[in-house]
Amino acid sequence: MADLSVNFCGIKAPNPFWLASAPPTDKAYNVVRAYREGWGGVVWKTLGEDGPPVVNVSGPRYGAIHAQDRRVFGFNNIELITDRPLELNLNEIKQVKRDWPDRALVVSLMVPCTEDAWKAILARVEETDADGIELNFGCPHGMSERGMGAAVGQVPEYVEMVTRWCKQYSRMPVIVKLTPNVSDIRAPAAAAKRGGADAVSLINTINSLMGVDIETMTPKPATGGFATHGGYCGPAVRPIALNMVSEIARSPATHGLPMSGIGGIETWKDAMEYIALGCGTVQVCTAAMVYGFKIVKEMISGLEDYMDRKGYEHVSDMVGLAVPKMTDWQNLNLDYVVKAKIDQDSCIKCGRCHIACEDTSHQAISTMKDGERYFEVRDEDCVGCNLCAVVCPVEGCITLDPLPEGTVDPRSGFEVKGHRTWLEHPNNPMAQSPRGPAGAYHGTKHVEKQVEPAE
Ligand SMILES: Cc1cc2nc3c(=O)[nH]c(=O)nc-3n(C[C@H](O)[C@H](O)[C@H](O)COP(=O)(O)O)c2cc1C
Ligand code: SF4
Ligand code: SF4
Repeated sequence: MADLSVNFCGIKAPNPFWLASAPPTDKAYNVVRAYREGWGGVVWKTLGEDGPPVVNVSGPRYGAIHAQDRRVFGFNNIELITDRPLELNLNEIKQVKRDWPDRALVVSLMVPCTEDAWKAILARVEETDADGIELNFGCPHGMSERGMGAAVGQVPEYVEMVTRWCKQYSRMPVIVKLTPNVSDIRAPAAAAKRGGADAVSLINTINSLMGVDIETMTPKPATGGFATHGGYCGPAVRPIALNMVSEIARSPATHGLPMSGIGGIETWKDAMEYIALGCGTVQVCTAAMVYGFKIVKEMISGLEDYMDRKGYEHVSDMVGLAVPKMTDWQNLNLDYVVKAKIDQDSCIKCGRCHIACEDTSHQAISTMKDGERYFEVRDEDCVGCNLCAVVCPVEGCITLDPLPEGTVDPRSGFEVKGHRTWLEHPNNPMAQSPRGPAGAYHGTKHVEKQVEPAE
């Protein structure tokens, strides 16, 4: 039977499913109800320094991109850190930790970038017996204009400096939450590690503007006729987050640094993808806001079933298993050839694959047979690009099947054999070990199409 419990840089939890620092973890009422449903841990909504509470807008603070079935695909917010008094939050954190000792309770923090400010808040958080702290270096709106959040996370030197203060003035594990609003995520991740971070979590939200009401010429969401940029999250950002996670996992400077994966997680499968790329835990915000706390039940049972089916005992057995399969483009096998294949039994003859291939790919799908609509791939034209399978409305109707080694690719006329990368390709002037004349190679054969003459 699968054991879902985790020990994430010294923080124990019954499962890897945690709620990210955001409205779902804003107060004891929410956190206790989330624990009851089964969440293994939470990162409390970001606390700021003592003083007058933060003020949020009272206009709409959220915006969304919906799929055609009204599912929320992308989500945006202009909310700030907690607007509740510090003392109230700390008292609740202490009580909740006492009542739920087996669940992870991490406190997210964001204070001005001075040693004294960090020292002061760390002492207060220590007293709550929380399991750890997460440094919010990610919030891209509002707080960043006050020199906090992403304004710190975008400068590796600041990330390192503040992380070092936190390690110096606190006994608690330090998780550094990274902003994706940088050109290379490896730089702040390496800085966090240099500063002594026990782990990093990523991603926080992506800078975004949700749209424009073109009747009133006002960007959205607007408060009193004016709008501002916000933080983007939800399923739409998952591919961006996964890539950043994999970059940190692969980089020699940060390889092995514990990671908590965040961004667009809705199901156990989404979570498992983060685990496969090196994350020891995952965090969820948008899906909990859209579907409620109960989604964790499916996450737990789904992951258990998967682990039992695959024979994994512990979550830690699966961390990073997909990382060795990530590589740079230049290392891909250019001798590998696939052809699209249409399953005639499931094809509904809509023609979308033909239009896509005809207009923007390689004109490889015919439309008629014996006077009837019939969609079929011509192997002699297909480059295996996958566009037809992407646009086909019937899942699984188009597959990309590899040509077996030793067969002749009807497109190029060359035999499929071996394994050559760009580094070895004869067309590469910098090739380290060219094995044939330039151009005499299926990957480079160019077939010109005839354009019909204008009438
Ligand atoms: C309304 C809202 C408020 C948020 N507030 C915080 C915050 O206070 N501190 C923080 O570190 N991240 C905050 N986040 C970011 C989330 O913790 C998370 O990193 C991000 O939403 C990506 O995860 P998701 O795609 O599951 O939503 C907030 C996100 C949303 C949507
Ligand atoms: S894989 Fe690409 S080239 Fe081949 S049929 Fe599909 S769209 Fe056309
Ligand atoms: S897009 Fe799919 S369903 Fe439509 S014709 Fe092509 S293969 Fe058939």
